Amino acid sequence: MLVTGGAGFIGSNFVHHVLDHTDDTITVLDAMTYAGNAASLEGLPTERFRLVKGSVCDAALVDELVAAHDITVHFAAESHNDNSLNDPSPFVQTNIVGTYELLQAVRRHEKRYHHISTDEVYGDLELDDPERFTENTPYNPSSPYSSTKAGSDLLVRAWVRSFGVQATLSNCSNNYGPRQHVEKFIPRQITNVIDGIRPKLYGTGENVRDWIHVDDHNAAVLRILEAGRIGETYLIGADGEKNNLEVIELILTLMGQPSNAYDHVNDRPGHDMRYAIDSTKLRTELGWAPRFSDFESGLSDTIEWYRSNEDWWRPMKQATEAKYAKTGQ
Ligand code: NAD
Ligand code: TYD
Repeated sequence: MLVTGGAGFIGSNFVHHVLDHTDDTITVLDAMTYAGNAASLEGLPTERFRLVKGSVCDAALVDELVAAHDITVHFAAESHNDNSLNDPSPFVQTNIVGTYELLQAVRRHEKRYHHISTDEVYGDLELDDPERFTENTPYNPSSPYSSTKAGSDLLVRAWVRSFGVQATLSNCSNNYGPRQHVEKFIPRQITNVIDGIRPKLYGTGENVRDWIHVDDHNAAVLRILEAGRIGETYLIGADGEKNNLEVIELILTLMGQPSNAYDHVNDRPGHDMRYAIDSTKLRTELGWAPRFSDFESGLSDTIEWYRSNEDWWRPMKQATEAKYAKTGQ
């Protein structure tokens, strides 16, 4: 299996998951940007795993690696909304051009491809909207990040229809768990509390995200690789809707702090209000169900992971907070 972006948050957890649960051998292709972390892949069995440093935009390298593997699972992306508002350029390159290069290679070599995407391609929902996102929801992305992910999804759909590429797609909600970069909401607040910094809440904190544990996401991806129908999209979600204020209060409480010990900071421009996934298709067609149904206990484990793995996140903490300070966040 070729796994792009396997040194990032979800990709590295996927590599561990696949090596633990199957007999597969994995090559990771990762550009090792600020978000790629070799420490996330330490200790893996060398006879079943190797890391190639390079970009999904490098057509020759992508062609060679795709040709040499049975399946390509494409996680690599520029993944942070706030960064995409400061500089959209790498988002267009990696998310759109990189996906194009992979699709051309899987087309040439007639290989199986799975595309990892986000529910943010659908835009946002009102807080009181009774509907949730389904596979039929129209695309309506808000940010440079989500629009470039939407563009990449549409390329995959077109390559399936026009060129018969053997691809599946999945769009997942917000992930949490170990090895997530400290720029993201949950690890930022956990590491802030560890460092004696008050958590930072954008705007009023009423925005809702549909949280899923990263291992549940990756188990769903494996299931789609096993039994998903070619050309189909599967939405992955674990009924985990929570607003940001609730999450910050829970982190503070679980970490032994008063639940109001956070700061309100500048809101994100264009901030999506709510994401919510209806994963009926995945559950009924492929028999997937989340294992981490208790958010509080998944969050406790995640807090424990950051407490026990300071060496992993410490090198990126100061630069991340310096970047946020520039936008008053
Ligand atoms: P991440 O930022 O933690 O990791 C991205 C990885 O891609 C890093 O290792 C980085 O070095 C690598 N990368 C970046 N540009 C590259 C390039 N040009 N060539 C090769 N590698 C490159 O991101 P993540 O949170 O693990 O997200 C992984 C995928 O899952 C993305 O496609 C994202 O859109 C999608 N997704 C994320 C979430 C979430 O909550 N984090 C939810 C749904 C979908
Ligand atoms: P984030 O982890 O950036 O994921 P996404 O933008 O893909 O949903 O943010 C999750 C939510 O948390 C989002 O509504 C923005 C908010 N947020 C804060 O309130 N404070 C923060 O410090 C960060 C990073 C995010």
